[in-house]
Amino acid sequence: MPEEITPILAELDTYDTKEYANNTYYLGHYHGHELVIAYSKIGKVFSTLTATVMIEHFGAEVLLFSGVAGGGSADVQVGDIVVATQTVQHDIDITAFGRQKGEIPGSKVFIETCQRLTSKLKEAANTHGIALKEGVIATGDQFIHSKEVKEMIVKHFNAQAIEMEGASVNLVCHELNIPCVILRAISDTADGQAVDDFPQFVEKAAKQSATLILSLVRLL
Ligand code: ADE
Repeated sequence: MPEEITPILAELDTYDTKEYANNTYYLGHYHGHELVIAYSKIGKVFSTLTATVMIEHFGAEVLLFSGVAGGGSADVQVGDIVVATQTVQHDIDITAFGRQKGEIPGSKVFIETCQRLTSKLKEAANTHGIALKEGVIATGDQFIHSKEVKEMIVKHFNAQAIEMEGASVNLVCHELNIPCVILRAISDTADGQAVDDFPQFVEKAAKQSATLILSLVRLL
């Protein structure tokens, strides 16, 4: 969402914009790194497109994903920040043919993120006095706003956070050998309260996530 990249753009002195595949890509420099910044638009299809364009068209060598998510397991609350160790597509269901929930033939249920970047991110968070939570981030093409659905996802995948883009971005990176980190600040708890909480907390959560991503860039 635009709210998720505005705080990043605000930190750059100048940047160019390039239109590609109906999206705007912002090209700038930050602490000796060339950055390509875009919001992916919502959902797995758009985020797959955006990640692929960043890598294949703009030549991105590392992908850092920042944004907001619904909280997963009970100890993850609004304001917490979660980094993915693994991602899963919670809405993939070919169980009718004996596959596990989340499994796509030729791929894996859980896909690891880059351990080196995740460690660096934890280091960056420490400098802000923030202890990151880490674990599985579950992705699907639904905004989850029901206790029952959330509990199913959490129980099945042990998800720390639930959102709509991380697994597709991480999958693109995994298939193309690009190191990837997925960071999410919690804007709601994906239950009956989510529709009220999300608009209230999205901006603050997005800013927290963006601040940490830029701190990570400074450490690279
Ligand atoms: N992103 C932020 N909150 C979310 C939720 N409850 N479900 C899916 N994606 C989200």
